[in-house]
Amino acid sequence: MGRKPIDSEPTRYTTFILLLMGLFSCTVVYIFTSAVIRPAENSAVDRTLTVEDGGGGTGGGEECCSGVESFELWGDAVKWGSDFKVNSSKECCKACKDMCTGNHGPCLCDTWVFCGDKNACGDKFGECWLKKQKDTLAPDKKDAGNKIMWTSGIVFGKGEGIIALETEFGAIHVKLLPECSPRSVFNILDLLGFRHCAGCQFFRAETRGQIWDAHGDHIKDASFGPPYALLQGTFGAQGTALDEVSREFCPEIRRGSVAWVGSGPEFFISLANHQEWKKAYTVFGYVLPEDMQIVEKIAQLPTKFDVWTGVNVTVLENPVALKLRRIKSSNVI
Ligand SMILES: *[C@@H]1O[C@H](CO)[C@@H](O)[C@H](O)[C@H]1NC(C)=O
Ligand SMILES: *[C@@H]1O[C@H](CO)[C@@H](O)[C@H](O)[C@H]1NC(C)=O
Repeated sequence: MGRKPIDSEPTRYTTFILLLMGLFSCTVVYIFTSAVIRPAENSAVDRTLTVEDGGGGTGGGEECCSGVESFELWGDAVKWGSDFKVNSSKECCKACKDMCTGNHGPCLCDTWVFCGDKNACGDKFGECWLKKQKDTLAPDKKDAGNKIMWTSGIVFGKGEGIIALETEFGAIHVKLLPECSPRSVFNILDLLGFRHCAGCQFFRAETRGQIWDAHGDHIKDASFGPPYALLQGTFGAQGTALDEVSREFCPEIRRGSVAWVGSGPEFFISLANHQEWKKAYTVFGYVLPEDMQIVEKIAQLPTKFDVWTGVNVTVLENPVALKLRRIKSSNVI
C-alpha cells in the first residue's frame, strides 16, 4: 500500500488555516517575548511547542487530545465507527485513550479517525473509528486524495512513542507528544522513516550558568541570560524536505522540553524552566529525565561567542552530529 508524505493540497490548505490560527494565538505572545531563540539563518515566523512535564503525556493542566484534519490513518479497526458516534474529535481521541489505560504493554487503541464535517460526511457524520497500527512509529496513512473528510490522530501509551537522538555523547531519548502537537510528530515520524539525517546536528549550546539550578528552577534575583540554558539544533537533513509546521501546543517551556524554533526544522532542548519566554514555542516532546545528563554534557562543550540579531549567543566550536533513531518499545521504561 502506498505511503505518501503529507503534502497534498488539502493538507496544505489545512496547514495554512492552522498556521493562521496559530499566528493569532501564539505569535502575538511571541512578539512580546524577547527573541532569545532564533533560527540560525534568516528568521522566519517563529513557532512553538511545549512539553508537558514528566509522566507520559499526562502532566498537569488540560490534557491534550488533538489530531490532524483532512488526514486519514488506516489500520485494523478495534472499534467500528459505524456503530460508534461521538460529538467531537476530542471525544473520539479520548475514547481511544481510554482503551490505553494499562500501565504496561502497548495500547489496545493507538489511532483514532473521526468524521466531523457534516456536509462531507453525510451519514458517516460523527463516526469514530478506533484502530491499532502494526507499527505505531510508522502509522499507515491513506494517500491524501482531493477531499479527506476525516480527522485522525495517534495516541502513545507508556513507553511508546519514544525516539532517540543519537550523538557521540550518548542517545537522548525523547518522548513524543502526538496528542498535543500531532502535525509536528507526524513530521518527526516521517523523518524517522528516511533513516539518514545528514546535516542533523546541535550547533548552539548554552549552559544554565548561575541562573537556573540543576532542577531547572530560576535562581532568585538572577538575570534571565545569557547564557540561556538550551541546546539548539536542526533536523534540516540535506535532501529531505521537512514540512514546515504551524504552531501547535504552546505550553510553558520546562527543563527537558523539546520545541521548534519558528516552524522548524530547527529545534531546541531546554535545560531550564523558562517561564520568562511565556508560551511562545511549540513543544512536541520531552527528554526522558535520565538523559538530561547527556544534554548537560553537550551544553558544556567548548563554544564561541556570536551575536544573532542583537542576542548574545554561544555556538558550539564543533557541531555535534545527531541521528534520529527508533527504539523498540519493549526495552523502554
Ligand atoms: C452529543 O450532543 C448531543 C446534542 O448536544 C447530545 O444529546 C448527546 O448526548 C451528545 N453525545 C455525546 C456522546 O456526548
Ligand atoms: C553582549 O555582549 C557584549 C560584548 O561582550 C556586551 O557588551 C553586552 O553587554 C552583552 N549583552 C548582554 C545582554 O549580555
